[in-house]
Amino acid sequence: MTTLFDDYELAGIRLPNRIVMAPMTRVRSGAEGLATPSMAAYYAQRASAGLLISEGIQPNLVGQSNPLTPGLYTEQQTESWRQVTAAVHANGGRIFAQLMHGGRISHPDTTGLQPVGPSAVAARDVMVFSPTGPQPAPVPRELSTEEVGEQAKSYADAAVNAIAAGFDGVELHGANGYLIAQFLSSNANLRSDRYGGDIAGRICFAVEAVKGAVAAIGADKVGIRLSPGAGIWDAIDQDVPELYGALLAELAPLGLAYVHLEATTDEDTLVGLRRAWSGTLIVNPSDPNAPVPTDRAAAEHWLSLGADLISFGRAFIGNPDLVERLRAGLPIQEVGREVYFGGGDQGYITYTSHQY
Ligand SMILES: Cc1cc2nc3c(=O)[nH]c(=O)nc-3n(C[C@H](O)[C@H](O)[C@H](O)COP(=O)(O)O)c2cc1C
Repeated sequence: MTTLFDDYELAGIRLPNRIVMAPMTRVRSGAEGLATPSMAAYYAQRASAGLLISEGIQPNLVGQSNPLTPGLYTEQQTESWRQVTAAVHANGGRIFAQLMHGGRISHPDTTGLQPVGPSAVAARDVMVFSPTGPQPAPVPRELSTEEVGEQAKSYADAAVNAIAAGFDGVELHGANGYLIAQFLSSNANLRSDRYGGDIAGRICFAVEAVKGAVAAIGADKVGIRLSPGAGIWDAIDQDVPELYGALLAELAPLGLAYVHLEATTDEDTLVGLRRAWSGTLIVNPSDPNAPVPTDRAAAEHWLSLGADLISFGRAFIGNPDLVERLRAGLPIQEVGREVYFGGGDQGYITYTSHQY
């Protein structure tokens, strides 16, 4: 039986275990979206994970969702990530960059730009982050057909920078109600051009973004994260099995490094998607609003259902040595939400390995 501690061959990279650190925005970047020495220390401390996936990184300015998140669209930003990837590699780890375009989940006070989206539809009853605190989600500017292609290409450009910065690959953030998920959604995407309408239209942006990244850096270095049916940030999916089945069918021939599914819909649907995807599948057994973080039992359950790798998010925050703690059955330290976003080094790089 497969265990979390078996190794795995991921698109030519040997992972020493099946435990992936899920992408987590921590809102601690420097000015101008630069990666910092503290970020290098944070990721290097967690390098015993089979694979690290970085926090969401914006591929351009308009794609920035929160204040103090990092970018990969300037030379300086690219350069700043080298300290992170070098520190991870020096500690024997591997790291993919998560490319996250926030689309309509952004604010002009954060970027100086009106957020963009598939349609001029604001997320309902949603407060977005801004430098002065949470504010109602603004109405985004609807992208023209030509501009949609430009935003899709932003992932490819950032992917090139990620490889130049020493990342082992990239994960396109297609989950949690951000730009790709907005295009997949039937209430955020009301377009009548080729990027909207029926399922074939709604998957078009995701497929174009992925194909662009594949052409730029190679399929073995590209993954995508999806959260079927999650409805996060008011991006509601309809026809979940058909929508995501169609998307995986389009992605299947590309030979991607992986698909990363959040367990945000019923188990039968997720198992069906597993069957529809013969490549590497990472499952995050939880979802961002679940009261309890992913634990060993949930991880083993999904391994038994056919996941190849399991991602853990919150458990990594207070447990840099999570792999060892899981292996040896050591206590998992819980942390409060107050350390999640911002706050400098405290609650970020201040957690130690288990002390015997
Ligand atoms: C502080 C925090 C930040 C997060 N940021 C991201 C992100 O940038 N990109 C992403 O895809 N998911 C993000 N997530 C979701 C996690 O990757 C994960 O799916 C979620 O926490 C559920 O898994 P868990 O129970 O193992 O924590 C974030 C979650 C937390 C707690």
